[in-house]
Amino acid sequence: MKTVFTLFTCLASLTSHARDIVIDSCGNLIFASLGDGIIALKPEWNDVCPTIVETKVLVPDDGLNFTSAITLSPDGKTIFATTPQLALAKVVVTGMAPGPVAEAISRAVAIPQDNPDVLFINRGLDTPDIDNATAFIDNSKGMIQAFDLTNMPADGYDYTTDGTVFSWADGITRNGVPLTDNPGDEFNCLGKYDAFSTSPPPNPGYPFCHTSWNVSSLPDSADLSIGTGLLLDASVHVDSFCAENSIPPRISFLTHTAPLGIAFYKPETPSSGKDLVGSAFVSLPGPAGHSIVVVPFKDGEPAAPADSGKGYYDFVWTSPSVNKSQCRSALLQAPAGIGCLSPVGLVFDKRGRLYFTADVTGEVFVVTKDQPEDCSGD
Ligand SMILES: *[C@@H]1O[C@H](CO)[C@@H](O)[C@H](O)[C@H]1NC(C)=O
Ligand SMILES: *[C@@H]1O[C@H](CO)[C@@H](O)[C@H](O)[C@H]1NC(C)=O
Ligand SMILES: *[C@@H]1O[C@H](CO)[C@@H](O)[C@H](O)[C@H]1NC(C)=O
Ligand SMILES: *[C@@H]1O[C@H](CO)[C@@H](O)[C@H](O)[C@H]1NC(C)=O
Repeated sequence: MKTVFTLFTCLASLTSHARDIVIDSCGNLIFASLGDGIIALKPEWNDVCPTIVETKVLVPDDGLNFTSAITLSPDGKTIFATTPQLALAKVVVTGMAPGPVAEAISRAVAIPQDNPDVLFINRGLDTPDIDNATAFIDNSKGMIQAFDLTNMPADGYDYTTDGTVFSWADGITRNGVPLTDNPGDEFNCLGKYDAFSTSPPPNPGYPFCHTSWNVSSLPDSADLSIGTGLLLDASVHVDSFCAENSIPPRISFLTHTAPLGIAFYKPETPSSGKDLVGSAFVSLPGPAGHSIVVVPFKDGEPAAPADSGKGYYDFVWTSPSVNKSQCRSALLQAPAGIGCLSPVGLVFDKRGRLYFTADVTGEVFVVTKDQPEDCSGD
């Protein structure tokens, strides 16, 4: 029998803009929320719907602007969170200057389970679409850096001078022709972190190499297929430059979906469908997204080939009756447009229930099967 999921809106609406979300070992939901700070909610479940029995502000926002990411150390004792400028446990890392636009405020963080002393921080661009400064590794932009938590300076690390680069990136036209339906967004597999590696960090290709999506609408597309590195300016490099100098995405997403959150479905009790175990769930808050998609995995990597346009499918989506080009999608923009579903942070609890935030409207949702736990089956 096909599993039926239901989207519940029964969690308290947060007052501001909930962004990233984690669950601690006691099942408390911890959010980074712009305007609120870091807040913890204690949910209590009845059949399928939780009620929030306690709300605690762990770190008040106080103008820090928690727009970004939050993660827990593998022992569950320390919360790491980022703002556009800082990564905090105490202050761990500084030097991630804010971008002037809403698109540039995310600073994803992660600590790998098998490397609990390493904190990864992603810093994106300072301008929307093309930020040429990312072409130079020394600019410390458009990259993921690793920081050693066992050896931290008293006043924290500086993102621009410290850290080990784990991966980095070096109105859009191609050879002067404006692009529609391109470039696609990317799902990259960056490999395992190895502190002793001497090979150069993988480079997904930005700002020179983008991702081909709708090849039939591209000029000079003979050598391109979905996911191939797409050069915007052939006078600077030729297309083979991308194959030689960057890693291609493992899966490509539709243009302007802006993947922002990812969670792998590996619950202790896979009560939400065994066929989904191991899959990645990705939030796509961008103007063409307003959705959460599933990227099915097989043997530890996406099941679809890299040139497939069908490497993912919708899991939570916006009704086709909504005109998505009227959605307000940038968090800090003046509130014009309608408040559409804009999923950002997502996390599964041990039972495989999916919680996610929608930052534009400041909501938290939970997705679960539409039947009580004890009727579990496939
Ligand atoms: C937080 O955001 C507000 C509004 O955009 C801005 O005025 C303020 O400078 C930001 N605070 C920091 C620490 O960047
Ligand atoms: C970035 O580089 C491209 C290609 O060289 C160029 O066309 C564009 O004007 C540059 N953008 C900025 C903001 O410098
Ligand atoms: C791809 O581009 C072609 C040519 O512009 C267009 O006709 C087609 O509808 C596009 N396909 C999709 C899936 O957007
Ligand atoms: C959707 O909204 C845009 C922007 O307001 C408008 O140009 C377009 O015609 C609308 N599309 C439909 C199908 O109503």
